[in-house]
Amino acid sequence: MDIATVDHLLTTTRSVRKRLDLTRPVEPEVIERCLELAIQAPSGSDRQSWHFVVITEPELRLGLAELYRQAFARYRASGPAGPVTPLQSSADYLAEHFHEVPVLVLFCYEGRVEQAGPAAQAGLYGSILPAAWSFMLALRARGLGAAWTTLHLRYEQEAAQLLGLPPSLTQAVLLPVAYFLGDDFQLAKRTPTVERTSWNGWGRRRAELAGRGEDEGMYLSPVRAERQRDQTDWILSPLPGLATGNEIDVHARLGMLRAVDGFVQQNGLGG
Ligand SMILES: Cc1cc2nc3c(=O)[nH]c(=O)nc-3n(C[C@H](O)[C@H](O)[C@H](O)COP(=O)(O)O)c2cc1C
Repeated sequence: MDIATVDHLLTTTRSVRKRLDLTRPVEPEVIERCLELAIQAPSGSDRQSWHFVVITEPELRLGLAELYRQAFARYRASGPAGPVTPLQSSADYLAEHFHEVPVLVLFCYEGRVEQAGPAAQAGLYGSILPAAWSFMLALRARGLGAAWTTLHLRYEQEAAQLLGLPPSLTQAVLLPVAYFLGDDFQLAKRTPTVERTSWNGWGRRRAELAGRGEDEGMYLSPVRAERQRDQTDWILSPLPGLATGNEIDVHARLGMLRAVDGFVQQNGLGG
């Protein structure tokens, strides 16, 4: 596998709005091919109860665009005042031109979960969103772009009526699709993963666990950081007959430490 190409695809698949080519037709075969790739995505219990609604007829695109625009106007009005940001300007453009995008693809899944618990909700959305993302990646690799949109869902029922969808179907994401203008896309600026990743418990950095990170102790009091360094040394020190870092042993020792930590915290003995 050509990792550089895969990484490039993964890091430059963006929501495309201003760079959608509204004048170039999209061949139905490209959509079908990308959907064939998309259904390699996972679904809960391999149910594959997805349904992809491809919309190319101008009146239907206009109908959906109007629903989108109504929802977008409310969303935009509720946003902060101030100078228009590049993202807002891009979103404004898409709202204005939604009906001109040659193909709209609506990703749906069988079932309704608004009254259900988190497992059912995660089960349903987790069974359709990976396919939609795979579809976007497959499009991108072929020179087409899409924008991830959900705003029309404020009017989900109206959209279902317009398209004749059964009420048992959940709409998850609506992708306006077109060839993109220009050659490539940029890496997006994101919050570093290290700020959003915990290892073996909330707020614990991997560097802290290994006892050698530059940002070690950032979220810990000096006393606690010192204790953690000692603990880390202990976790990683070899036991007779076991290799250093033996996974089972490390987990066992971590479990013990958590129990001790819990006791220390409960009894106000921590630093
Ligand atoms: C759940 C979700 C809903 C979104 N809904 C909309 C939408 O309705 N309209 C829109 O223009 N962009 C929408 N976006 C696109 C985001 O604005 C976009 O993903 C984000 O700004 C990051 O930009 P990038 O996708 O180009 O990396 C949505 C994205 C997600 C994940």
